[in-house]
Amino acid sequence: MNDEAVFEKIRSDYPATKKLTYFDAGARSLVSVQTRAALDKLVDSQLYEGGDKPEMFRLIERVREKFARLINARSEEIAFMKNVSDGLNTIAGSIPFKTNDNVVLTSDLEHPNNVYPWYNVRDKSQVKIIDVPSVNGQIDVEGMINAITPRTKLVTCSTVTYSPGMRTNVPKLGKACRDRGVFFLVDGVQSCGVLRTDVEELMVDAMAVSTQKGLQGLYGMGFLYCRAEAANALRPERLARFGVNLGDDTHEAAAGDQKFDLMPGARRFEVGNYNFPAAAAAEPALDRMLELGSAAIEERNCRLARRLASGMHQLGLEVCGDLDDPFRTHIVTLGEMDLENHESAGSGELQSLFDYLWANDVRLSIRRGVLRFGIHFYNNDQDVDRVLDLTKTWQEQAVAA
Ligand SMILES: Cc1ncc(COP(=O)(O)O)c(C=O)c1O
Repeated sequence: MNDEAVFEKIRSDYPATKKLTYFDAGARSLVSVQTRAALDKLVDSQLYEGGDKPEMFRLIERVREKFARLINARSEEIAFMKNVSDGLNTIAGSIPFKTNDNVVLTSDLEHPNNVYPWYNVRDKSQVKIIDVPSVNGQIDVEGMINAITPRTKLVTCSTVTYSPGMRTNVPKLGKACRDRGVFFLVDGVQSCGVLRTDVEELMVDAMAVSTQKGLQGLYGMGFLYCRAEAANALRPERLARFGVNLGDDTHEAAAGDQKFDLMPGARRFEVGNYNFPAAAAAEPALDRMLELGSAAIEERNCRLARRLASGMHQLGLEVCGDLDDPFRTHIVTLGEMDLENHESAGSGELQSLFDYLWANDVRLSIRRGVLRFGIHFYNNDQDVDRVLDLTKTWQEQAVAA
């Protein structure tokens, strides 16, 4: 089977593709029939047999290992979280900030969930925020590097911004942070699963993601990658038994010792029982991504996105970013950015296009005033053509009106 045939076959596992032109991976991806089956299996086990806890723990360790493999990390560098915010706040609460330390970020392009944790740190610990403005819809990596001072404790950015969806030059920023001994934390939710995301290459100390977007899972679960050496130097803000090294005896009864060691690596950050259903739901997608390979997934997603972007440009619509910018991704955005607004409607004209597409069973979002199309590997060329045809009809109708 050639690549195209492989992806076409996979598409049939996502029933929503039969009735929708689904371009909303930036919000949440479609899930597959295999995800439903995995979830059913877990629920059935509790429904009919009272549940199998050892098997649930085996599931967690399998999923941990598979996610680690997807991002080129080691299992012990992965902690289960609730979502992106949980991962970011876990790091924010574990770094020993002192008065007059600073955090470098780009508030005008970060998702609010990677801004408020730092305002909280600022207010609790009298830490300064060094806010580096974006340039042309992109995080200004050079500007961020220049903003680092001897009191910089942490630098944070998104691997890909949620809007307008451009990739950040993370390896460059990562190297600068590593050279200066500054903790580098990224929000990787808009790249994991959809684009190649290799934590070694990115040179990050920690990365937070959730599973409902590129990872094709459900809401309510995320992962925190934390480089083993970086994690071992941190004391978690919250602690429960999974964060404590109890040796082989992991049952409750083993706890209670006044003196204890923290778990090595990222496990020290895990608090309480896991979201087993969301882990079960995540596993089939991780299997598929490992099988296809991140490079092939990225190539397909970016190829479809380039086709969509150039088609929209040919129709005279304003596509965010240069068409040949190497930092383009699987996300295509249209219109003029409104940096003050997170989820506002775009211009009147674009709101009308958005409404027209929705009414015709296309799924997309509006973020920061622009229309956002988020592609994943269940999409195909016919999806792109359909949206371009609909846009053309919408334009013709506007002219006739
Ligand atoms: C870049 C980015 N970060 C964070 C989030 C959401 O954060 P959380 O998973 O904590 O709800 C989103 C989208 O919902 C996002 O696009």
